[in-house]
Amino acid sequence: MTFEELKSGVEKIVNNHNVLELHDCLLQICKLLEANVPHYNWVGFYFKNGDKDELKLGPYVGQPTDHTIIPFGKGICGQVAVSNKNFVVPDVSAQNNYIACSITVKAEIVIPIFVNGENIGQIDIDSNTLDPFTEEDERFLEYVCSLVSKMLS
Ligand code: SME
Repeated sequence: MTFEELKSGVEKIVNNHNVLELHDCLLQICKLLEANVPHYNWVGFYFKNGDKDELKLGPYVGQPTDHTIIPFGKGICGQVAVSNKNFVVPDVSAQNNYIACSITVKAEIVIPIFVNGENIGQIDIDSNTLDPFTEEDERFLEYVCSLVSKMLS
């Protein structure tokens, strides 16, 4: 499936937010992405945990992870929580501030989600392929995050 087709798919899910719980919408987005992009092997959302400086795991698809809480600044996810910037990691073995969830993971991309200018969470994608992410992935995932943001605001 192309990113354009996937964008329409995500729009459909988001438009169902009136009948689906937020959790179910987010889970459906994870499922759609993981099932249709060969280099997306773990897809999940982390959100700021109340007023604490930590992230809490939300809906995801892929291997269960022990890292359901990630302090701000720790790992790729925790760094994005403070930098407010996309983080594309072509090779996780080259990162020293990285939290390993599975030995099969070779690369990761994290894109922040903003609501009213505030970084409230992120989409996190792991890949079992080395260096698979391009600017196309970034633009596509930024769009997904903007739709999620609308759902949250
Ligand atoms: N690798 C992430 C931790 C989350 S897992 O990928 C699900 C990190 O370094 O923040």
